Parts: sequence; structure tokens; C-alpha cells
Amino acid sequence: MSSKIIQTQQLGDERGYLSVIEGNLTIPFEIKRVFYIYGTKEGIRRGFHAHYKTRQVLVCVSGRCKIFLDNSKRKDVVELNTQTKMLLLEPEDWHEMYDFSDDCVLLVLASHHYDPQDYIRDYELFLEVYGK
Ligand code: TYD
Repeated sequence: MSSKIIQTQQLGDERGYLSVIEGNLTIPFEIKRVFYIYGTKEGIRRGFHAHYKTRQVLVCVSGRCKIFLDNSKRKDVVELNTQTKMLLLEPEDWHEMYDFSDDCVLLVLASHHYDPQDYIRDYELFLEVYGK
């Protein structure tokens, strides 16, 4: 699988917790873009794409959700259910996010600025690009 789980540290004291993500340190790229998905309605599945260039790291900073992964050779499901478990997605990782808890805030760190041309949203094209 090209995707990978990365653990962040949980820095805690009597006040509570703090976790840190640093570009080129905790995660293997410079962070150019940050977005977050929240208020996701029940039964919703989103994503359904891979990329040409963009690498991403996903972490549920609140709540939980599941990620279906397909790198054209292997399929997998990862549950993100703690603030210290992050999922690194390579461009070839087709991903679908689902089973969002009501309180889910899914933070996404990306290696590139937003560019609709960098998306592969057609599954057949995905298989052509990344091999059957
Ligand atoms: P969309 O790609 O549909 O989300 P998902 O892949 O999770 O289903 O994105 C929703 C909208 O937000 C769409 O109009 C594109 C826009 N968008 C940006 O403008 N910038 C971004 O960085 C992202 C991720 C989305």
C-alpha cells in the first residue's frame, strides 16, 4: 500500500493535550494548503478521487471517520479515530471518506495548492494512469 499511518506525539500535562504536525518533519512534505471537512451529514461518502501530484495527510482532530483506499493494486480501509493517528496519502491513492461521526472534523494537509486539474475523478482513468 502506498498510503501510510503516521503517529504524532501527544504532548500532555494537567491542562490537557497538544499535538504537533510540522512540514518536512512529522510529515514528508512542505504544507502548502490546509482544509477541513466538518458537519458531514449522515450516510455521506465523499472524495472519490486520486491525484497526479498532490500528497495529503489526514487526521481527525475531532471525532472519527473511515477512509476507503485503493491504489489500483490493493484496497484497504483505515479508521481515523484519534488525534494522534494520521494517514499519509500518495497521489495514486484513490480515496473515499465515510462513516463520519457527528463531531468529526477531518483536517487535511496538502503538498500542493488547489488545482482541479490535479484531480482524477474518473475511476477508469485512474486505472489507466496508475495501472490495472
Ligand atoms: P470536493 O473536491 O467536492 O470535496 P471531496 O473531494 O471531499 O468530495 O470539494 C468541495 C468544494 O470545495 C468544491 O467546490 C471544490 C472546493 N475546494 C476548493 O476550493 N479548494 C480546496 O482545496 C478543496 C479541497 C476543495
